[in-house]
Parts: sequence; C-alpha cells; structure tokens
Amino acid sequence: MKRAVYPGSFDPITNGHLDIIKRAAKVFDEVIVGVLVNVEKKGLFDIDERVKLIERVTKSLSNVKVRSYDGLLINLMKQEEAKVIIKGLRAVSDFEYEFQMALMNNKLDSTIETVFMMTNAQYSYLSSSAVKQVAKFGGCIKELVPDEIIPDIMIKIGE
Ligand code: PNS
Repeated sequence: MKRAVYPGSFDPITNGHLDIIKRAAKVFDEVIVGVLVNVEKKGLFDIDERVKLIERVTKSLSNVKVRSYDGLLINLMKQEEAKVIIKGLRAVSDFEYEFQMALMNNKLDSTIETVFMMTNAQYSYLSSSAVKQVAKFGGCIKELVPDEIIPDIMIKIGE
C-alpha cells in the first residue's frame, strides 16, 4: 500500500491545502494529513479543533485520515508506516525552506522521500496566515477556505 503523509500546521485548512489533499488522494492509496502540535506557537484553533475541521472537509474522501503529531515528522511517518511526505509548493519563495526540510528529513531517515506538488495557480497566493488577517480585518474569506468552516473561523476571530 502506498501511504503518504501531508504535514502542516493547518491553522486553519485552506482551499489550497484541500486541493493538494484531493490530488494526493488520487495518487496514493492512503493520505494521512499530519497536523503539527506546535507548543511554541499559540494558533487560532487548538489542535483538536484543527483536526476536526480537516475531518469535516475531507469526510467524502475515504482514503484520507487526519492525525496530530508533536516532535519530529519522521516519527509520525514511522508510526503510520508511510515513506512519502507530500508538500505543496506555491512559489519560488517556498522552495528554499522546503528544500532544507526535505533534505533534513531524508538525513534523519534515508528511506523517506518528499514529493512536491505544485499548487493550483488559483491558490498560489493563499496561506492560513493571510486568511486569518483577511478575516480579522473584515475581508471576505469565501473561496479562500471551504464554505463549511467559514462560520467556525468567524466565531473564533470574534472571540
Ligand atoms: O504548515 P507549515 O507550518 O509550513 O508546516 C511545517 C511542518 C509542520 C511540516 C514542519 O515544520 C514539521 O514537520 N515540523 C516538525 C518538526 C520536524 O520534523 N522537523 C524536521 C525537519 S526540519
């Protein structure tokens, strides 16, 4: 079985993330969305909320699972018996950081490969941070995130 992990912070999941998940789910038998528990950074959503939002928007994808992890990504890979990391690339500016992470993960475990998928051009400007800023200052986040999580974001921003 070809199983891949798509890791990230997903605070919150965007349409760009969802596009990569859907495309990856066509290429791999199983895709595990790995949500990093980052103790150093307080997010908009806590880890359980992020996992639930992703589960909600991927519920029609039968080969997609969502798991949270802390520490090293390669530990999640071992736990889930996956050998492929999927990352989305939006622009050249993403490359340096992603290149470094891919090499580091391969150094930590040489059996791990990172596969990059080009973002859909439609979402090349999109990030979770931008979504949070737009929502915070009253802009419209329709088409930036899945419709079914817009109310959750608006409630959180208002808290
Ligand atoms: O959505 P993000 O914040 O760009 O995702 C980055 C993420 C979570 C994939 C990456 O920071 C990660 O996996 N961190 C866990 C620590 C780790 O494994 N580091 C080794 C590679 S440098």
